[in-house]
Parts: sequence; C-alpha cells; structure tokens
Amino acid sequence: MKIIFLGPPGAGKGTQSEAICKEYGVTQLSTGNLLRDNIRQGTPLGKEASKYIGGGNLVPDEIIINIIREELRKPYLSKGYILDGYPRTVRQAEELDDILKEYDQTLDVALVLEVDVPDLVRRLAGRRTCRNCGRSFHIVFNPPIDPDDCEIGGCDIYQRPDDSEEAVKNRLRIYEEMTKPLIEYYEQKKLLRRIDGAGEMAEVYKRIKDVLDPIYYNSLNYHPI
Ligand code: AP5
Repeated sequence: MKIIFLGPPGAGKGTQSEAICKEYGVTQLSTGNLLRDNIRQGTPLGKEASKYIGGGNLVPDEIIINIIREELRKPYLSKGYILDGYPRTVRQAEELDDILKEYDQTLDVALVLEVDVPDLVRRLAGRRTCRNCGRSFHIVFNPPIDPDDCEIGGCDIYQRPDDSEEAVKNRLRIYEEMTKPLIEYYEQKKLLRRIDGAGEMAEVYKRIKDVLDPIYYNSLNYHPI
C-alpha cells in the first residue's frame, strides 16, 4: 500500500504511522524525522533545514522535493510506504504526482487526521521525542515508561524546539494556509479519507484500520467474509 498521511501538527500522524507500519508491513517515510536526523548529524542538509524548522517554518519546496525523489526510488520502500508529513504544499503534491508517474507507482489513499486546535495544543505541549529513534511520547497520554523501548537502543528523550508556544502557533497558521488546501486536492482525486483523530490512540487507530483493511485486502485480492 502507498499511503499519504495528512493532518495538522500534533494530530498523531507519527504515533499512528508506527501502528500502521507494524500491521500492514509498510515503511514510514517522515520528512520531519529525516530532517531532524540530518540536523543531529550536522549534514549540509541539516544545517540548511535548521534555519526553518526551529521556528516552525516549512523547509523550501526544492529541498524537500529532491529528498522525496531520492527516497521513493530506494528498495526499503518497495513493500509500500506511508508518507508522513509530505506533501505539505500544492507544489509538493504536484511534484509527487510527476515523480510517482516516473517511477510507475500509484497512491492507494490519502488519510487526513482531523483534531481540534485545543487538543493539538495539549498534545504538542506534552510531547517528548526520542532523539535516537524519532518516536513521539506524551508526558500524560503516552509516557516513555521503558527506556529500552527505543528501536535503536536506549531512549534519549527531549522536547522538540518547534513545540514551543510561539513555534506551534506558527505551525498551525502555516498548516491552515499551505497544507489544508491538499485536502481538496486529494478529494478531487477521490483518494481522500477523513479520520476523526479525537479520543484515545487505540480508538483512533481502529478508525484508521476500518479504512485501510479493505484497501489492503483488495490489494492482495483477498476478500474475507
Ligand atoms: P513534522 O515532524 O512532520 O511535524 P508535524 O507535521 O508538525 O507533525 P508532528 O510531528 O508535530 O505531529 P504528529 O501528527 O506526527 O503527532 P504525534 O504522533 O507526534 O515536521 C516538522 C518540521 O519539519 C516542519 O515544521 C517543517 O519545518 C519541516 N518539514 C517536514 N516536512 C516538510 C515538508 N514536506 N515540507 C516542508 N517542510 C517540512 O503526536 C503528537 C503528541 O500527541 C505526542 O506526544 C503523542 O504521544 C500525542 N498523541 C498522539 N495521539 C494522541 C491521542 N489520540 N490522544 C492523546 N495524545 C495523543
């Protein structure tokens, strides 16, 4: 399956992507995680990206599109993927259409996770992230109990600089202006499925599964009664 995951900052895209990958054998490609890895390693890409990310601004389209062009041709994504955080502008979506055509790939679905602003702010304010594996936790809703949970080995928990109050305001504004129009974009392509992102993580996942199961079984040509 090839899935696009849309939704405002803090909606739970990263959290739910983890469960989707386990269940359906797809791989998450998070542009945010990829950029943060580069910042941590001090690569030229990371140095450039850090000018934008901390304040909650989008990294320029050219940079991100080149990353996606490179990643989507790599074998680790050949069993299917979930694009978490890409596309984020109409230009990125149009470029993605071209790239997919060039690579002879077709999207199965664009999920949008819908959550109210007060809930988003609560989720972002309490979020803690593992520097090593990129997983998100929450000090109340999903505390990192076992440090060995880390997929890389030993969680190193920190608070993302773009989870500050100012940066969150900016990210929400940018989402409204630049990313929300993609809902209409994928609706017109008849790929959009809206998911109510309110409530507990397991409840939200059940709603996602209700949408993905038929697509998955259809892709296998298997129809359980
Ligand atoms: P990115 O890392 O993609 O951030 P984002 O889209 O803002 O999304 P978040 O990671 O903030 O939230 P999420 O929806 O994954 O929520 P999570 O699961 O963590 O991008 C960061 C930056 O990189 C951008 O601002 C930009 O600068 C740059 N960038 C990335 N892609 C780009 C692109 N394509 N173009 C240009 N620039 C780009 O959950 C949030 C919290 O809530 C967690 O604490 C979690 O435990 C908790 N939680 C989750 N679900 C629930 C629930 N149901 N109930 C209670 N708590 C919950």
